[in-house]
Amino acid sequence: MPTPQPAIFRENTPHQYFLEFHLRARWQPEELRRVLGQALAARAPETSLVLAFGRDAWERLAPQEVPENFIAFHPVLGKQDRIAPGTQGDILVWLHGERHDLNVAFAMEIGRALAGIATLELELHGFTYLDSRDMTGFVDGTENPHDEEARAAALIPAGHTGAGGSFVLTQQWMHDLERFGALGQAEQESVIGRTKPDSIELDDAPPTAHVRRTDVQVDGQALKIYRRSAPFGGLRQHGLYFIAFSREIMIFAMQLDRMFGCADDGLMDRLTEFSTPVSGAYWFAPPVESLTALFGDHAG
Ligand code: HEM
Repeated sequence: MPTPQPAIFRENTPHQYFLEFHLRARWQPEELRRVLGQALAARAPETSLVLAFGRDAWERLAPQEVPENFIAFHPVLGKQDRIAPGTQGDILVWLHGERHDLNVAFAMEIGRALAGIATLELELHGFTYLDSRDMTGFVDGTENPHDEEARAAALIPAGHTGAGGSFVLTQQWMHDLERFGALGQAEQESVIGRTKPDSIELDDAPPTAHVRRTDVQVDGQALKIYRRSAPFGGLRQHGLYFIAFSREIMIFAMQLDRMFGCADDGLMDRLTEFSTPVSGAYWFAPPVESLTALFGDHAG
């Protein structure tokens, strides 16, 4: 099986940096390979890198390696005018590590290298907040799979095109913390479906609770994803950059449909009353061997 990008699974790095680029019309694969390949040489060993591509860009870069069912993100038109918008880009760069300054220095190199062929559509500094809490104050990641289970959830299995790679969903969510904070703690807990201080699952969580909308099962089997989201922002604006990895895009799509009232039961995730996505994209994070073939030894 080809080697997954190791930084996908490297946890406990306090600083995250996310960049989404859109390639300009008439970009050429050879030029992207050259400029990105050169920029990647500037990475400090302390900075972890994950690279992923939108469907159109990947199809031109490596037409033989397009995984099955790789689609661009389409907006999810939910109930009550709640929408998960699509802002599909071409290149996703996720940097993480102990040092924010090293992430930024490397991001600057990548930005300079791509300036002639791409525009930067999203740039966010994510960070570990308190003891791995989202800015709503709830622990994020409790039910995340670990080790072999994380790899099984995240990676396209051997024997399939793109094996060792991973589908990625990214969404920037903007929180309305004033509104969420106006709820009492018990009601906040029923929105999420877990207790606030210690993240214990509620036995009586309503079907609209976030954990019940996203706990997707087919024929009694739980369909897991591997989440690596990070809070961003400060006093004025704040939210979550949702980033998750899956062996199948369909699992993300089912979760989003269930959150936005598009599943058979028509129920909405109550979290969408208090947080709104402003971006949305699907990506493919290729295995190391594919990246080095395209961009050279520094890409792994
Ligand atoms: C504002 C955005 C979001 C916030 C603040 C948020 C926060 C949380 C929190 C606090 C939990 C419970 C603790 C845990 O198990 O991690 C959780 C669970 C989970 N979330 Fe989210 N989440 C957000 C968006 C999403 C989205 C967009 C998806 C999927 C497309 C998702 C998928 C999941 C899954 C699969 C679980 C575990 C469910 C289970 O099996 O118990 N989340 N999230």
